[in-house]
Amino acid sequence: MLEWKSNRRILIGISGGISAYKIPEIVRVIRKGGNDVEVIMTKAATSFVTPLTLSTLTGRRTWLEEDFLSDEQGWKIPHISLADWAQAFLVAPATANVLRRAALGEADTLLGATMLATRAPVIIFPAMNVHMWEHPATQRHVSMARDMGYIVIPPEEGELACGYEGKGRLPENEVILEVLWNTLSPKKDLAGKKILVTAGPTREFMDPVRFISNPSSGKMGYAVAKTAWYRGAEVTLIKGPTCIKPPYGVKVVNVTTAEEMYRAVMDECEKADIIVKSAAVGDYKFATVFEQKIKREGKGSLQVTLEENPDIAAEVGRRKRDGQILIGFAAESHELLENAASKLKKKNMDMIVANDITAKGSGFESDTNSVTVICKNGRMVKLAGTKEDVAWGLWDVVESEFPA
Ligand SMILES: Cc1cc2nc3c(=O)[nH]c(=O)nc-3n(C[C@H](O)[C@H](O)[C@H](O)COP(=O)(O)O)c2cc1C
Repeated sequence: MLEWKSNRRILIGISGGISAYKIPEIVRVIRKGGNDVEVIMTKAATSFVTPLTLSTLTGRRTWLEEDFLSDEQGWKIPHISLADWAQAFLVAPATANVLRRAALGEADTLLGATMLATRAPVIIFPAMNVHMWEHPATQRHVSMARDMGYIVIPPEEGELACGYEGKGRLPENEVILEVLWNTLSPKKDLAGKKILVTAGPTREFMDPVRFISNPSSGKMGYAVAKTAWYRGAEVTLIKGPTCIKPPYGVKVVNVTTAEEMYRAVMDECEKADIIVKSAAVGDYKFATVFEQKIKREGKGSLQVTLEENPDIAAEVGRRKRDGQILIGFAAESHELLENAASKLKKKNMDMIVANDITAKGSGFESDTNSVTVICKNGRMVKLAGTKEDVAWGLWDVVESEFPA
């Protein structure tokens, strides 16, 4: 796990929305990652989830409305000490009422006063009935809060607890956590950069039910895309069919075959500042694709002809304009560094990530990886750890090789 995702101090404000029941799980996950959490609850929030649940999960007292103007803490003023302690202040769910408090700077509650007093980034996740969300008062409060520098993440569409369908749902916990980590990212060196990442396998169909592919899970490419987003980039992810959810915060383009990936990359690569080709693209496709399922004929064998797919990386290398950076991946089973270095040169890449797919805990499907990054100038950097660690390390190499 990325080292900066632990030892952080996260303040969570919970207000009186039905989705408050989801927050204890977020607290659990953040704590499990080695972080400290303090929780402030509004009076209404305590009708939806109990302070005891939150205290049990944080290992600390839960701050309630009655603590605001109490002298129990003596000289320690709760809204100031919590505001100063926090490295990020997550307000989830934020009721329409709390959104108004944020927009108008109302300091008559512990939660409202702490939002005003903190210098930490405040991330607000509104959740409410669709009509409440669409009301001009709520929308005005959203834009006022944003103008003042609050991060306001709009609710998602779907079935609402009140029985309505529409915009108003609190996003999944995963999304809330990803926005938190994006906000806490110690580096924003890729801000203003457009980055194109390819990930996952491709499929080459022989008939409607059979294809050739490879075991790529997409995890490495997803980690590259996600960490680029953490570091401030605008990311487009072109991905083949995978079983895992693509990361939040990036634009996703779905493709199946190598030809489709080729066309998608050619459409997108012109505007990209950095192109990372981590997809495991099939080198070959069937010369003939049968429209109907091929039946077993009892002949003992079936002859098929494969022909080469277009070489996407080579074409991007040919089209590369001045200042554009092309990073490739070389998944090799033998003569790793030699093969990777020759691919780097042949395809006009600036950097290549050499990945020994036969090594334990490395390559396809694994959650970890161990790679050597080879730069055009011959510099080599070894990276190992989770795929997220390796991706973060790759961006560090880009930062040092191509200072802004
Ligand atoms: C069952 C129930 C569910 C509610 N859910 C929400 C909600 O999801 N979002 C919201 O803005 N208000 C919701 N409300 C209304 C708030 O609880 C109410 O506005 C309250 O005053 C908010 O107080 P607070 O902002 O101090 O937490 C709900 C009320 C009830 C009775």
